Amino acid sequence: MIASKPAAAPADELFACAAPQLFAAQQYRKDFPILSQEIHGHPLIYLDSAASAQKPRMVIEAMQRFMENDYANIHRGVHELSVRSTDKFEAVRETVRRFINAASTNEIIFTRVGTEAINLVASSWGRKFLKSGDEILITALEHHANIVPWQLLRAELGLKLRIIPITKEGDIRLEDVKAALSPRTKLVAVAHVSNALGTILPIKEIITLAHAQGALVLIDGCQGVVHMPVDVRDLDADFYVFTGHKLYGPTGIGVLYGKFDVLKQMPPYQGGGDMIASVTFEETTYKDPPHRFEAGTPPIVEVIGLGAAIDYVSNIGMSRIAQHETELLHYATEKLQRINSLKILGTAPKKAGVISFVMEGAHPHDIGTILDRQGIAIRAGHHCAQPLMDILGVPGTARASFALYTTKDDVNALVDALGKVQEIFG
Ligand code: ALA
Repeated sequence: MIASKPAAAPADELFACAAPQLFAAQQYRKDFPILSQEIHGHPLIYLDSAASAQKPRMVIEAMQRFMENDYANIHRGVHELSVRSTDKFEAVRETVRRFINAASTNEIIFTRVGTEAINLVASSWGRKFLKSGDEILITALEHHANIVPWQLLRAELGLKLRIIPITKEGDIRLEDVKAALSPRTKLVAVAHVSNALGTILPIKEIITLAHAQGALVLIDGCQGVVHMPVDVRDLDADFYVFTGHKLYGPTGIGVLYGKFDVLKQMPPYQGGGDMIASVTFEETTYKDPPHRFEAGTPPIVEVIGLGAAIDYVSNIGMSRIAQHETELLHYATEKLQRINSLKILGTAPKKAGVISFVMEGAHPHDIGTILDRQGIAIRAGHHCAQPLMDILGVPGTARASFALYTTKDDVNALVDALGKVQEIFG
């Protein structure tokens, strides 16, 4: 049973003209079985959704139902279960297409994780189209997943990696993007939302600037799709990457969106079953995208879980989730600023529901441990963004991140607990 079933599939835009509805975070919370437990004798307050979001019963049950009733390998069998599994698997491709408004399901590639999607582009597109002296632009706030694949390619091909700086607020200025772009720029690879600071990057403007220079753009949307509606056609992104586990879905599933005209020019990433048209010992030919990039048995059950997760958030409405998280962000920011020894890192005007902070005299791990004893889960550390931490001059930060199930009560509990941290270290 789903504790609170969101209203049936209202299109996000309908909310713009409908009367504003109260966002029922407290109700949605009941859809997440894990959230009803106690940790160290306190009700669990989960503020680590940027690391991985919790899973609604709908997702858990969809995966279980699929394994109990429909499961078999896909694209291979003529038997009933294989046909059923294939249909359900491919239906999720359409769900993903609709979710990000891609033009065709042929533009949706299932990967094992967001990181693999970026590595796929680096390995396939990068090796084919880049050469020594070409430049890839990234920003100073990228996650390691959007740095290291390009460094590996740089070492192999002799590329240059240029870094767009950040302001002291943790923002990206379009003047700096313009200054870094040149005819040598072949790819701009940037986050949609910084996982460490919450900054929402001006990706539409960055894409326009990059295209004017003839460069393609890859958006690391792992923190983007979870916080707001995404329309890849409106953005005109060449590649958009995201992962299932931050979107209330299972681990082990990522998505690479790519414009079909670009994908069709790209060679396979991995070889194996299901990606070939024909194989002889002399020569192998490959399927068209997306199947060309899905070698081997894919994460079938995880794809079903991702589909259920997208249905779940779509039924609530991504615009409403975005609005709820923005309200929480403002509420929490205002309260946290009142704690004397606390400093928020990342104060860009446009932010998603992520707050990174440091406290005088307290290491982020100490903050995380003290909060954990009170049942509050946050992330402490470098957030897989060590170059950003170096720029900020800190070894790491404490980070609270919000989701559709986060409430003002959760924020109040965080603020109270941080007051105790201040007492201990103040
Ligand atoms: N990239 C994940 C985070 O931001 C793990 O915590």
